[in-house]
Amino acid sequence: MVIRMLEEITIRMDDVWKTYMMGTEEVKALQGVSLDIPRGEFHVIMGPSGSGKTTFLNMVGALDIPTSGEVYFEGVPLSSLNKKQLASLRSYRIGFIFQTFNLVPVITALENVSLPLVFQKYPREERRRRAEEILKRVGLGDRMHHTPDELSGGQQQRVAIARALAGEPSLILADEPTGNLDLKTGFQIVELLRELSQETGVTVINSTHDLKLIDIADRISWLRDGEITRTQKKLDVAINANDVSI
Ligand SMILES: Nc1ncnc2c1ncn2[C@@H]1O[C@H](COP(=O)(O)OP(=O)(O)O)[C@@H](O)[C@H]1O
Ligand SMILES: [Mg+2]
Repeated sequence: MVIRMLEEITIRMDDVWKTYMMGTEEVKALQGVSLDIPRGEFHVIMGPSGSGKTTFLNMVGALDIPTSGEVYFEGVPLSSLNKKQLASLRSYRIGFIFQTFNLVPVITALENVSLPLVFQKYPREERRRRAEEILKRVGLGDRMHHTPDELSGGQQQRVAIARALAGEPSLILADEPTGNLDLKTGFQIVELLRELSQETGVTVINSTHDLKLIDIADRISWLRDGEITRTQKKLDVAINANDVSI
């Protein structure tokens, strides 16, 4: 039997910088971000458009590499992994949820959720069983055989949540998952994600510019011009609610 120590810190960012070149001009998208995100936390990255939210999530999700600094995933520095190991990390350990849902349009909800499990080499029956179970959990038990264009935006995002969770990742990265939804639907979606994170113990990092998400977070990091200006527990934000602005 293999005994594995479960890391208490899912993500550690250590002085992460990311600079893009726009022609001859440097854009400093992240400027020295350091942050620890413990296992099971629902962490909200709050910042206006252009503040570096997507860049931040791309570094954490190993979709891009920092200009300097280090990201640790469960204690492992990402810079120590080769391409194949990074790909495997992305497909087995991390679930991604995007603003635009990113479902495959020509296949059903059930197939969209089971597709990533094919790459994880689950047997066919197990794939179907898992996908059905999680689709029921997100409230789509009666919509499994519909294609994305037959579903509302909120329902499509529920499929994306189910897809992200199906492989039992240790981390979910949600980049403005409410951005294309009306306020009420968006809030329901994030509440669902919050419930599922509590049920499964998965760590969630959710970016947004919507102050309503403060109520759902365990902690909030305020991002401005590529810098985290403050990281707070939800309760501390509530006390200072009048000061809150982004
Ligand atoms: N591939 C890129 N090339 C050049 N600049 C980029 C690139 N990606 C992002 N940026 C710039 O980096 C900054 C942060 O962008 P981004 O992380 O997308 O912010 P957010 O997701 O908060 O809107 C912005 O100024 C943006 O224009
Ligand atoms: Mg973005």
